[in-house]
Amino acid sequence: MGTFSRKFYDRHWVMFAIIILVVSCKSKTNDTVKRSDTNIDPIEAKIDSVLSKMTLEEKIGQTAQRGKSSRVKELPKDLKDAVRKGQIGSFLNIMNKEDAKELQRIAVEESPSKIPLIFARDVIHGFKTIFPVPLGQAASFNPSIVQEGSRIAAIEASTYGIRWTFAPMLDISRDPRWGRIAESAGEDPYLTSEMAKAYINGFQGEDLASPTSMAACAKHFIGYGAAEGGRDYNTANINDNLLHNVYLKPFKAAVDAGSATFMTSFNDLNGIPASANSYVLKDILREKWGFDGFVVSDWNSIKEMVNHGFAKNEKQAAEKAINAMLDMEMTSTAYQDHLKELITEGKFSEKELDVIVKNILRVKFRLGLFDNPYFDPDDTVLYAKKHLASAQRAAEESTVLLKNKNEVLPINAKQKIAIIGPLADAPHEQLGTWTFDGEKEHTITPLKAFENDKQYSVKYESGLSYSRDKSTENFQKAISIAKSSDVILFFAGEEAILSGEAHSRAKINLPGAQEKLINELHKTGKPIVLILMAGRPITLENIKDKVDAILMAWHPGTMGGPALKNIITGVVSPSGKLPITWPKEVGQIPIHYNHKNTGRPVIPEEFVQMDSIPIGAWQSSLGNTSHYLDAGFLPEYSFGYGLSYSNFTYSNAIISTETPKMGDTITVKVTVKNEGDQKSKETVQLYFRDMFASITRPVKELLRFEKIALDPGESKEVSFIFSTDDVAFYGPDKKWITEPGDFKLWVGEHATDESNELKFTLE
Ligand code: NOJ
Repeated sequence: MGTFSRKFYDRHWVMFAIIILVVSCKSKTNDTVKRSDTNIDPIEAKIDSVLSKMTLEEKIGQTAQRGKSSRVKELPKDLKDAVRKGQIGSFLNIMNKEDAKELQRIAVEESPSKIPLIFARDVIHGFKTIFPVPLGQAASFNPSIVQEGSRIAAIEASTYGIRWTFAPMLDISRDPRWGRIAESAGEDPYLTSEMAKAYINGFQGEDLASPTSMAACAKHFIGYGAAEGGRDYNTANINDNLLHNVYLKPFKAAVDAGSATFMTSFNDLNGIPASANSYVLKDILREKWGFDGFVVSDWNSIKEMVNHGFAKNEKQAAEKAINAMLDMEMTSTAYQDHLKELITEGKFSEKELDVIVKNILRVKFRLGLFDNPYFDPDDTVLYAKKHLASAQRAAEESTVLLKNKNEVLPINAKQKIAIIGPLADAPHEQLGTWTFDGEKEHTITPLKAFENDKQYSVKYESGLSYSRDKSTENFQKAISIAKSSDVILFFAGEEAILSGEAHSRAKINLPGAQEKLINELHKTGKPIVLILMAGRPITLENIKDKVDAILMAWHPGTMGGPALKNIITGVVSPSGKLPITWPKEVGQIPIHYNHKNTGRPVIPEEFVQMDSIPIGAWQSSLGNTSHYLDAGFLPEYSFGYGLSYSNFTYSNAIISTETPKMGDTITVKVTVKNEGDQKSKETVQLYFRDMFASITRPVKELLRFEKIALDPGESKEVSFIFSTDDVAFYGPDKKWITEPGDFKLWVGEHATDESNELKFTLE
């Protein structure tokens, strides 16, 4: 670790600890309104002064976000003219620095009110230096590393004048068929909220007005992750209980962390498309939470309300969206084409439009764009050594060890290694989804990492040229190097394009002939280490018994190769934990750890597998509980699961009081010891269950976590502090409430580890 990174890292761990303490001790409910002190903010006077000189056309202009097709070389004249007339407020995807500067020059020198433009881009998990996909970063359970990565992304992207990123994506995702799960932090509201804060703090930096800061955009508001059947863009039916207790939580955390902007989602939420959903946009986001930044639509999502059957034409779509106070329209032109008319017809007022324009100007002022509209590119920061080191650390901490039979891992330099598989040397693929700017030329694959280290004896045959390859033509070559080696490293998974937007899959096993090749390699009798690179959990039913070890590397990014080499060879002990329940079979989806108990919860001892049911059995439900006859009731791996090269013991779990009073602070302590002989990190997880309440509560909810590093034989005491407000829920009265009663707590290694149980009764 370089000096910069070490300092950065240490400083952020300390900051993180302080944040945890402050947040934990803060007595609050999820309804807390964080009103900005806009009355005393000097920016407000400046906004009013700019606004007072704007014409209606210019005001409408601020609501427009436009792009330029990358296929068009020259900056189109009509775009320049539109900026000159004050008809555009923002651009996305302008990747030619000269074009960006010229557009900004026209805006601030030639447009009537001289309002700067804001340039946006999807900088999701890195700009040039690519970090693991967000689902992978969540697996690090290390917010400081996520914050460091998003700070680096902002430093790099701002050299292109990009001061607004469309991230973080905070959609709770319980369905791995949904391609966009790769962009999420998984299934848990608390983990996603912690990741939200980390991303936002990193993107926005200490001062949003710094030229290296980017405005964050909490997206997609809301319910996008609940798409029916995991089919992208599909309908989300989320009742109020689930909406508040699960889906909204990370977005509330984003408002509290100061996210400058929000983006609506494509989906219809309970019958009302999110881009015109006043309940979430006005009542919750603005009224309850006091959000004072601006909200952008998703790409074309206003016009798509016609397809939803929610608006009869684009004009009505514009009317519905603007009345829900959706501030800016991405790419489509419903506002531009119809707002003036809607105002003339009295369907919306100029006064209301002023509120919208103020929201947009506020963010531009906060970004310092009025004082400093241009950017000064310092290209030397792209792929800076410290950025690469950070990306490597993130990839190392994101990798999850799922299986390690006979301790086949780590391997040693004396072993002859066969490197096989379509993802072993696929630089573009290992970057993952949403990496417009990452370059494969700068990416180090696992194969290259091993080849560059002369102490390892490596033979390579991909066997399959890409993940969907069905040809068995090269199997023999792969089998032959496997036979002459001591261990097989099989790099499998999905190409980058198989997850992300519009890339849902109904089957989520290894595509192509990968399973077939693993089966063939198994016949050689050589140990197989399966290293998965994918944007989602992969079902392993057909191969899990054929491989000795499994590492989930997600799509690990630019430095995935060196990171994986360090883990495979034991330089670094794996420490990632699953941010999502890993299903055995697609038929189990949705399957998540924080489910409800039901009236007939699973009784493992009484489970009768389908094949044991007698032929001609009489119809009866007796003894049966909420499970599948064929797939049972367990996932392949539970939320929070992940092995290490060490093993840890937990002892002395205690709670400060078993009879707290409402509003009290409670401390849970546990001692964790590294029993192995390698320095390793462990994520200590605290879960709770509200045993009975006025609405049913999940069987478990993540309450706190902390990742600690332990030397061999070292013990540490970990303290978690929380208040009774932290176990509150959104109740039947549509209010956040903590009810008296019994609570259970578990502190341990993953969501189903119940070895350290504690309890308290709230009076
Ligand atoms: C559509 C995606 O849903 C959204 O996440 C993204 O930010 C925009 N397109 C802009 O590329």
